[in-house]
Amino acid sequence: MKPRHSELLAKDVPPDEVIPLLDRYLMFYIRTADKLQRTARWLEALPGGIKYLREVIIDDKLGICASLETQMQQLVETYFCEWKEVLGSPERRRMFAQFANTSDTQETMEVVTERSQTRPTYWAKESAGYDFRKHAWTGGLVWQPVIEASYFDGAASANVKRGETQLAVFKVKGRYYATQQMCPHKRAFVLSDGLLGDDEAGRLWVSCPNHKRNFELNGAEAGRCANDDELSVAMFEAEERSDGWVYLRLPSVEELDGLLATRKWAVRKEESVSPFVEMDRYLKGRTSKRPSERTVMKTRAPSGGGCGGGSELEW
Ligand code: FES
Repeated sequence: MKPRHSELLAKDVPPDEVIPLLDRYLMFYIRTADKLQRTARWLEALPGGIKYLREVIIDDKLGICASLETQMQQLVETYFCEWKEVLGSPERRRMFAQFANTSDTQETMEVVTERSQTRPTYWAKESAGYDFRKHAWTGGLVWQPVIEASYFDGAASANVKRGETQLAVFKVKGRYYATQQMCPHKRAFVLSDGLLGDDEAGRLWVSCPNHKRNFELNGAEAGRCANDDELSVAMFEAEERSDGWVYLRLPSVEELDGLLATRKWAVRKEESVSPFVEMDRYLKGRTSKRPSERTVMKTRAPSGGGCGGGSELEW
């Protein structure tokens, strides 16, 4: 971080000229700054610095002040809040629903309170530790309609709820595939949000959006994980029928829930591990000085810990 004190741009500005002056300043910044460049860094890089800025937006050295004000007015007139638009549109709000086939909701991680605020608990310490792909359904499988096929006119995947279980349904190249929604790596209910792709051998894959474990969707080994032999997902046959529904070949709700009910796998606080504990322990062992007494501390992050583990930390 490079904090910077504010600088005086102008003084004794008549009240009705303050806003136009700020409009010129902002529009000149918008037009000339680099992408994501903050105003302080922009001004440092501006040839002539604040003196030149004053010449442009106060003295109108370039003759563009009127244009800058007009451009700001156009921006103000065409501005709209995208989130407000979504909240006002039932159709768009449906895109943020947890399930494509019901308005029910489920918690997939225990919510904990910290500093008077709530947040989902941390990742599960362990993976699911079960070979879902090879699970033997004992009560037989029956084709059941789960979602209208028209849903896939504008989507490649859906999270559907059956009983207390979440299932991911995909439509790829005109064919349907279905898996459990839970990625067994960290028990995250996210596979319908995964990236879909195929390889040169014609295999289809869904890649978990969290840590990119890849699960095969077709072929004899469908359900296996390509980058972790310990992981797999349950697969279910899926097809669209002439009545306009997508059917899955599923066990009874009781048997399905017995293996995959969300409450069974939702991560509880006592099963999660704080990513900061190891870092705190490591840093405490590195120095006995208070932060204010430290000058520069360069260290290497513990392996696998924190974001970008292994990179240098610098205080
Ligand atoms: S939760 Fe880690 S790869 Fe899916």
